[in-house]
Amino acid sequence: MILLLGGSGRLGRALLRARPGGFVAPSSGAVDLRDAGAVRTAMARWRPRIVLHAAGFTDVDGAASRRAEAFAVNGVGTGHVATACAALDVPLVFLSTDHVFDGRGGAPYAPEDPLAPVNAYAASKAEGERRVQASGCRAAIVRTAWLHGPDGEDFVGAMAARARRGPIWAVADQRGHPTPVDGLARWLLALCDDAPSQPWTTWHAAGTPAVDRATWLETVLPWATVRRTTTDRFPTPARRPRDARLDTSAADAAYGPIHWRDTRWHVLRENNTSDVSALAFAR
Ligand SMILES: NC(=O)c1ccc[n+]([C@@H]2O[C@H](COP(=O)([O-])OP(=O)(O)OC[C@H]3O[C@@H](n4cnc5c(N)ncnc54)[C@H](OP(=O)(O)O)[C@@H]3O)[C@@H](O)[C@H]2O)c1
Repeated sequence: MILLLGGSGRLGRALLRARPGGFVAPSSGAVDLRDAGAVRTAMARWRPRIVLHAAGFTDVDGAASRRAEAFAVNGVGTGHVATACAALDVPLVFLSTDHVFDGRGGAPYAPEDPLAPVNAYAASKAEGERRVQASGCRAAIVRTAWLHGPDGEDFVGAMAARARRGPIWAVADQRGHPTPVDGLARWLLALCDDAPSQPWTTWHAAGTPAVDRATWLETVLPWATVRRTTTDRFPTPARRPRDARLDTSAADAAYGPIHWRDTRWHVLRENNTSDVSALAFAR
């Protein structure tokens, strides 16, 4: 059995959909990562074969003004999980982010490239990665990007809502990897199932191909009027990496690429499809 942390989140819900009954998924109230004792107690109670840590303080702009909170969860809290895993020799899968790179490299980042976190959220995730490495536990650090899915609010959903009222502006100078949560869930479960032969290393598992945000929206919302613009015209509290392309070749070869082009949930919604999640991978 897998202990899933972050089961109520966007990725967590996709994992629970992908393998009903495959997880124990305590709420953040039952197991708050900031509470080392609660984490230890959960590990001792459930004795999981793997911990899949998809929990986090994920408000990228909010972390700019709430840095301490972001570090308490993503840095210190992740350290609590890693320490508990090391103590019981339970492998850990930890989700991290493309924001740990500053986007100035000019080429896709390899998993072993040096980190240069671009904002406070990313710095807290990099601190989580550092604590995982320092704990000595067997760990897969999985960096991903631009998560979107059939339920809940996400970037595509928010833009689709705006596009129904008129033209939308989208930046064409930020490149990255749209990653459908169901595709990432499938990839993560393949990694967990392969635990006995795992190299326990750092992976870049994200949607393919890399694309700029405007092209992404034009592709998944073909009915919308998308106007292209640049990041300097839409300042946000937290900086984003301009070129956050990741070298996903090892992850693609190991457990299959994660395709995003066909995940047109919002097209399906426009067509009044009732069971959106069932059609998420309709081709
Ligand atoms: N979203 C993206 O585009 C993106 C990109 C790259 C990497 N990631 C990483 O991927 C992972 C999953 O992201 P997501 O978008 O699915 O996240 P999400 O929807 O924001 O969900 C976050 C989850 O973390 C839980 N959580 C928050 N604080 C906690 C605490 N103190 N103790 C225990 N649990 C806590 C939340 O529980 P409650 O619901 O109870 O608050 C929720 O289940 C995260 O590690 C994130 O950093 C995300």
